[in-house]
Amino acid sequence: MKTTVSLIKADIGSSPGHVTVYEPLMERAEELLDKAKDENIIIDFVVFNAGDDTELLMTHERGVDSEEIHKLAWDTFMDLTNEAKAIGLYGTGQDLLKDTFAGNIKGMGPGIAEIELEERPAEPIIVFAMDKTEPGAFNYPIFQMFANPFNTAGLVIDPKLHSGFQFSVMDIYKAKFLELSCPEDMYDLLALIGAPGKYVIKYVNSKDPALGRAAAISTDKLSLVAGKYVGKDDPVAVIRSQSGFPAVGELVEAFTLGHLVSGWMRGSHRGPLMPVPLEYSQCVRFDGPPRVVGLGFQLKNGLLRGGVDLFDDPSFDRTRERVNEIADYIRSHGPFEPSRLPLSEMEYTTLPGILKKFEDKFHD
Ligand code: F6R
Ligand code: MG
Ligand code: MG
Repeated sequence: MKTTVSLIKADIGSSPGHVTVYEPLMERAEELLDKAKDENIIIDFVVFNAGDDTELLMTHERGVDSEEIHKLAWDTFMDLTNEAKAIGLYGTGQDLLKDTFAGNIKGMGPGIAEIELEERPAEPIIVFAMDKTEPGAFNYPIFQMFANPFNTAGLVIDPKLHSGFQFSVMDIYKAKFLELSCPEDMYDLLALIGAPGKYVIKYVNSKDPALGRAAAISTDKLSLVAGKYVGKDDPVAVIRSQSGFPAVGELVEAFTLGHLVSGWMRGSHRGPLMPVPLEYSQCVRFDGPPRVVGLGFQLKNGLLRGGVDLFDDPSFDRTRERVNEIADYIRSHGPFEPSRLPLSEMEYTTLPGILKKFEDKFHD
């Protein structure tokens, strides 16, 4: 049986400001997806939040890019948006950039990561969701997981991983793709993905055709859809694990640095990415720091069992402490770069509105 795992997310409104999703609306999303489960549109689902983003994790047999699944997500987000408006939540429908659904949710605002897979006898599925950052924030950890032997021991000592993985890199401004393999093309890959504002890892594939897709990451860039700043793109990833893929522990190890990402306050700052349990999936200090949550399941016949909140573990306390220290340091730069993003990355923020004032006032 081929199962598809679809993770689709949108910011439909939050409280207070852009901090977190309003709990009763997540319950509403559960009700709606429960109905879709009764109608056999989906097999299973989990609703959770990454800061102010509502995350719909769904399993089904309809393949990737299924109109029915995308419409279900769109209709769910629309319903939640109407409710959010009625009760006065903040930034309602922030990510729903089009009025009517036209067959595919891509390019309409919400973020999406999907994998269709032939279930192995035991199939671990791991999902990560970030808030207050951009799709390229996944470049560093995905590289760590699938290409760096210092992170993933299996690349060195497990014959099933030893030949490496293939990466599909997207130029998000041109919507063009390039395939590169590791370890062979590692330096080429790094030359591109070291610029995460432009080149983003979209897929990772196993070199073993029997295993197929290893990871899918959302690359939707809101500003390119809307033509102006409408919040950061807050990416998600669906990743397979174990027996030919990195172990669960190798996947989460990739988040121990607290690496610097673009986003944070007003989508205009650099900040360290903090791995947090769902309990702390809310962006508070300076609207952040940017956060990532991780959930793990065993997938069988489309059912998601044994859910675990992966960063709910004291082994990530050190990372969180370090992130707080880095946050103090970088915050103390205030409005100065590199705390604030370089001008090239501020194009789609509110800053050009200020700079416009001086356009005609500079003189010789
Ligand atoms: C960043 C984010 C927030 C807002 C900030 C200002 O992705 O969502 O940091 O940019 O709170 O929000 P507005 O412009 O809605 O007052
Ligand atoms: Mg928001
Ligand atoms: Mg968000």
